[in-house]
Formats: sequence, C-alpha cells, structure tokens
Amino acid sequence: MIRLGTGELSPELFPRKKMQSVFQSISDKIGSLGYLEPKGLLPLTKIISAYLKKHGVDVSPDCILIVSGALQALQLISIGILQPGSTIFVEKPSYIKSLSVFQSTGMKLTGLSMDEYGIRVNEIKRSNKNTTLLYTIPTFHNPTGIIMPEERRNKIITICEKERVPIIEDDVYRELWLDELPPKPLKSKDKNGSVLYLGSISKTLAPWFRIGWLVGPEPVVNRLGDIKMQTDYGSSSLSQWALAEWMASGLYEENILEVREKLRIRRQVALNALERNFSDIAIWNKPKGGFRASLPVVDANIFILGVALASFFWFTGITTIASVFRNNINIKVMRWINLICGGVMIYYGLKLVYTFIVMIR
Ligand SMILES: Cc1ncc(COP(=O)(O)O)c(C=O)c1O
Repeated sequence: MIRLGTGELSPELFPRKKMQSVFQSISDKIGSLGYLEPKGLLPLTKIISAYLKKHGVDVSPDCILIVSGALQALQLISIGILQPGSTIFVEKPSYIKSLSVFQSTGMKLTGLSMDEYGIRVNEIKRSNKNTTLLYTIPTFHNPTGIIMPEERRNKIITICEKERVPIIEDDVYRELWLDELPPKPLKSKDKNGSVLYLGSISKTLAPWFRIGWLVGPEPVVNRLGDIKMQTDYGSSSLSQWALAEWMASGLYEENILEVREKLRIRRQVALNALERNFSDIAIWNKPKGGFRASLPVVDANIFILGVALASFFWFTGITTIASVFRNNINIKVMRWINLICGGVMIYYGLKLVYTFIVMIR
C-alpha cells in the first residue's frame, strides 16, 4: 500500500545495508549510556553546524538544538517563547500538522494568501495587541510545492525586519530538489537573529529516527533546550549517534544523491500516470522537488470557485426552480427534469466508479 497522505520516502529507498554498518560502528563508539546534554549530542550539533554552512547558514553548534522532529520544535517555540493568543501568520494553505500544533497551544492563526512565488508580502503587518510571528515553508512548500524565489525571500526578510515580525522557517524539504538547487534559506540572510530555522532527517532518511534541529539565537536555543529537558529529557541518543555517524562518514551526501536519482524516476512515473488518467479533467504542476504534484496556486481558487458554483447552480438552483414553479410546470415536464437530473448524476457516479476500478486494477 502506498500512503499518499504523508510526506515520506518509500521504505524501498531506505539504505538498509549502509545503515547496518552505521549501527555496527556506533555500537563500539558509544561510551556513556546516560542522559545527553540539553541541546543534544555535541558531535551531532557540530556536524550539523558544518552541514548548515554549506547551505549558507553560518551558526555555531551552541545555536543548534536537537529536537524530536521539526514538529517538536514548533511545540517548544509555542510553549517556550510565545504566550497563548499570540498571532501566527501562516501561508494559506499550510502544513496541517504544524497548524494543529499552533492551535493546540492556543495560538491565533492568520492565513496569508499566496501567489506562485509564495506569500504575498504586503499582508505581513505586526499586530499591536500581541506577539506576532510568521511561520513559512519557503522551499517545496507543503502542500503546494512552491519554491520561493530569491527576490521574494529578500522582500520577506526586509518587511519582517521592518514590522518586527520574527520568522519560523520550516526547511525540512530543502534536500529533495530534483532539477536545480533551491535558493538559500531565509536564515542565511538573517542579520538580527530573528529567524528560527528548522531542519529534519525525516524527509531525506526516515521519520522513524525522530530527529530534527532548531537553529536560533543562543539564549533562545538554551531556553528551548531547558524546556525540552523538562519535557522529555532529550531526543533518542541512539538516533542521534546514528545520525552523527551517518553524516560524519559521508553516507548522508552519498545517499541523498541516490535518493534524488530514484525520486526523479518516480516523479516521471507519477506524471505519466496523471497524464494518462486525468489529463482531460485536471491540471497540475511538474514538481521540481519534494513529494507532491499539485494544482497551480493561481488556478486553485478559480478551480474551487468553479466547482462550488457548479454544485450550487446544479443542486440548489435546479431544486429551487422546480419547487418555486412546481405549480406552473406541467407534471410531465417535472418528470423529465427529474429524469434528466437523475440521469446526469447516475452518469457521473458510474464514471467515478469506472475510474476507480481502472485505477486499482
Ligand atoms: C512542512 C513540514 N514540516 C514538518 C514536518 C514534520 O517533520 P518531522 O518529522 O521532522 O517532525 C513535515 C512532515 O510532513 C512537513 O511537511
């Protein structure tokens, strides 16, 4: 069974053999079996610091907190540095599970509309009443797949600095580019420490490790590290050792090249299937990375409006006309209206069933 709802690699792409050797070698290296330091395994934060430099983010290991996935970072930020009722600007649409974290911690969400380049910057305005933050996924946005171009990134940084709106940059899909390198993270342009940057191993290796990282100003990272200690006493040491070894040995880089190669093939297969089965009823973007091919954002609103209007006119319109004019319409005509409407509905129902059977065969 293929789970289309979650953004994760197929289990077939998991590098079992290489990972076996990683686990073998760490079994000899792990000395202490006690709790780790609040910000996570030091060799891992050092490796991530070096790794982030390659992506234009120049931070010391002290500014990195190892978390149990990017989602935990959002939870820590919400309970550690925000008050309930703070406003979070989010892309409309955004990743549903991140929204749930914010909602469950009492944040007030404000959706910002998007065009094909990401958030429309003119909608970013600080609320005078409470803390305001922007949560954004600028690279392979979930769910639209949009990659925010350099120019828009610069504008976001400028306007957020002007409005004094700190940013949470969720960059978990960065490494899954298939055609060309995406622009550097917003964090690489952050001069004042107002971007909290999130990364994760969930998309390039497996969510199963539950390892991600949060990058921010040292005092903020220290505070969130303390809260994490009070919450779960640190992320899995085994996962952290494995990831440290995975990255230090060069297997991370080697594996990501193979993953990209395989994802390119899978993308082509998925696009061919879409073309074969849905080209007459739908349009979609060719994804440049990430896991999703979606309806272009500019077309989505028109599409949704069209479907809503068609449904409204079809169901409400026809039934209203029929009931208003029922005394003026000849019983035979009424019967014909019923027959035609019923026929159309049965036709579309059968078409749906047929498409479904063809898809699962
Ligand atoms: C945009 C985005 N952020 C975060 C996550 C979750 O990441 P993690 O497994 O590191 O918590 C996902 C998973 O689908 C995601 O799409």
